[in-house]
Amino acid sequence: MNYSAFFDQAIGQLHAERRYRVFADLERRAGSFPTATFRNGTASRDITVWCSNDYLGMGQHTKVVRAMQETAERLGAGAGGTRNISGTNHPLVELETELADLHGKEAALVFTSGFVSNEASISTIARLLPNCLVLSDELNHASMIEGVRRSGAEKKIFRHNDVAHLESLLKAAGPERAKLIVFESVYSMDGDVAPILEIVELAERYNAMTYIDEVHAVGMYGNRGGGITEREGLAHRIDVIEGTLAKAFGTLGGYITGSAAVIDAVRSYAPGFIFTTALPPAIAAAATASIRHLKASSAEREGQARQANRTKTVLRDARLPVMASDTHIVPVLVGDPELCKQASDRLLEKHGIYIQPINYPTVPRGTERLRITPTPLHSDGLIENLRDALVETWTALGIPFHADNQPALPQSDRVVPLMVSKAGG
Ligand SMILES: Cc1ncc(COP(=O)(O)O)c(C=O)c1O
Repeated sequence: MNYSAFFDQAIGQLHAERRYRVFADLERRAGSFPTATFRNGTASRDITVWCSNDYLGMGQHTKVVRAMQETAERLGAGAGGTRNISGTNHPLVELETELADLHGKEAALVFTSGFVSNEASISTIARLLPNCLVLSDELNHASMIEGVRRSGAEKKIFRHNDVAHLESLLKAAGPERAKLIVFESVYSMDGDVAPILEIVELAERYNAMTYIDEVHAVGMYGNRGGGITEREGLAHRIDVIEGTLAKAFGTLGGYITGSAAVIDAVRSYAPGFIFTTALPPAIAAAATASIRHLKASSAEREGQARQANRTKTVLRDARLPVMASDTHIVPVLVGDPELCKQASDRLLEKHGIYIQPINYPTVPRGTERLRITPTPLHSDGLIENLRDALVETWTALGIPFHADNQPALPQSDRVVPLMVSKAGG
């Protein structure tokens, strides 16, 4: 076999489908985010980042950076091994206590990433439950799909956010069979929110366990940053709440929270937890500092909601095709992979604006888009620059604008970070 030719051909296929990915070479500068240095060979210049998942800018927060520095100086750089072999550094114990409290659960378990937390936890829970049927939303993240696949359990996919479809699958399985419903709160490419109350009610009626991914919601929704389940007053009715420390909390790692029994089972049985080195103590301490800050401060959440709502309004008023979104995520439709890449390149080269193109398989073909994530640190002036740059790019490349002036932003399309609960008071 000609191995090189094989891999060249695999990459050639991606080029042919206009799906080959190029990563920008950046330095995010602490203290001046969303400004970053863009490097191109030996040249470098300032750009504005509009596609970061450091959603609240906590990655540069002085409390977070200081906690990381101070802990690294005291405890060193690495964790020293797996927890199984080398024990747990105390900052990780504190982090897990903080996370259990954040979601009002008995216990928490931290993994080296959100991806690993989903893959390890879903596969372990569904494998331990006898003859488990997994009911999985069709738009679940790759890490959840991987967890379901690795569990070896039977799975049924329900149509995205379709509770009637989910109910028909639950009914057919019957009340006695073990069932695990896996879904997300905020779907990150469209910015829509799951009907959590309806799903919880179905789970209770049909005796199913629930596992929710709050990766794109923790830190940003709820009065203490506990996510959409906190905002809706539903956290106590969900069995397992999963999240990341790498997006709104600005650091690295993933976690699950739940009853002491389920957390202990995953801790004891999941290879993705047992056989890998733990998160370094400095990162754990930085994550704890971030979570503590966001439990007490809503200024970041309110700033993000305000600037996300403003971005949607300003871009819509310019007839740019902003897709419907109930959250801080602002997707702008291009609808063609080549044009999407060209738009991203032009924004960077001509306007100093970085927005990574989102193409298949991350989103369905024909819905290629620019996914914009305003933070509290994107000023009104930056939003206006963004609008002007997008209008110039759309005009230059002949990408369709929205046909008519959009109606005012519908109420359901506004970002609401804090308590609005119909469900939980
Ligand atoms: C819905 C969802 N779950 C899990 C993850 C993985 O989280 P992490 O980046 O912490 O590995 C992502 C990553 O983007 C995600 O979008």
